[in-house]
Amino acid sequence: MAWALYDPNHGYYRRSTGPWGFEGKDYYTALDVGPLLGQALAVRLESVWEALDRPGRFTVLEPGAGRGWLGRDLLAAVSGPFAEALTYVHRDDNPAARMAAEQALAPFLETQRARFSSESEALEPFTGAVVSLELFDALPAQPWRWEGAAWEREMLTQDGPAWEKADPGEAGTWFASQGPVEPGDGSIWVERLPAIMGELAQALKSGLFLAIDYGDTAARLLAKGSDLRRFRGQQVDGNWWEDLGQADLTADVDFTRLESLLAAEGLKGIGTTSLGRWIRAHGPLAQWEDQWQHLEGKERLRRMENLLSLTLPGMMGDRFKTLEAWR
Ligand SMILES: C[S@@+](CC[C@H](N)C(=O)[O-])C[C@H]1O[C@@H](n2cnc3c(N)ncnc32)[C@H](O)[C@@H]1O
Repeated sequence: MAWALYDPNHGYYRRSTGPWGFEGKDYYTALDVGPLLGQALAVRLESVWEALDRPGRFTVLEPGAGRGWLGRDLLAAVSGPFAEALTYVHRDDNPAARMAAEQALAPFLETQRARFSSESEALEPFTGAVVSLELFDALPAQPWRWEGAAWEREMLTQDGPAWEKADPGEAGTWFASQGPVEPGDGSIWVERLPAIMGELAQALKSGLFLAIDYGDTAARLLAKGSDLRRFRGQQVDGNWWEDLGQADLTADVDFTRLESLLAAEGLKGIGTTSLGRWIRAHGPLAQWEDQWQHLEGKERLRRMENLLSLTLPGMMGDRFKTLEAWR
């Protein structure tokens, strides 16, 4: 998965063309369906800024920022003293992402309300928020399965994918700590997760850590026998070994592990909820209703579709989870 997505010459996320969008593209995201996620984020982050006693500088760091559309929608939605305090930092070494983000963020880059940072750049501690959307599901993950007497990992061999017995080390301890495992149970293990979470959490001096992603609790993923998914041309399947470098690979995010790593970094008030619930709690619903009255019919319908896709359980409402943690 690391090679398929991030090999400097052949990696899917190292190509010069992006995968995001509808026809002719591989998959669409919460950002393709409209600006409501960014608008809800603006309300949520303004309340964080208030809770911190309105600091003069409030930085929003987005690792895995892709095209920068979440930043664009956030910056377009804020106003007044909060907008003056806010700087958005895009962090993603994907060249296609960077190119698209230069365009999407152009007005904000010019006024220095947005800037780029590379993944290798050391993070200076800041007050504000770390926000990610579908970052953790794109981290290289190893599938593991309990066959009844031993753990097996899924590997790519000359003859195709195969399960082979191996010592899962720390992953085995983690899986076993989530309750009894039955034959066929399994999950994925992201080796680099502690390093990435540690770096991000340590940079946050005070404020909110917010992660929005596909995933579930560790126990549910284990019971489901979690696996890798391949996205190509708006189709999704489990044939992760096909079209390496030409298709997106993702793995469900283990939110129990994210929470546990953040707790170990000293963050407090940690909790995960569904995206639908988070939108209903923090989205400016009454304001939206009011504003949409004045939109032309087609545009109004688009906003409603945007809201439905973010909140309906079978769309993104339940399949996406939102984790919040505070420092
Ligand atoms: C699934 S895409 C999501 C992009 C965007 N957030 C969206 O929702 O459209 C994942 C992105 O994470 C980036 N990425 C992967 N590992 C990263 C890391 N350690 N730091 C920053 N970005 C990373 C990839 O280059 C890719 O652009």
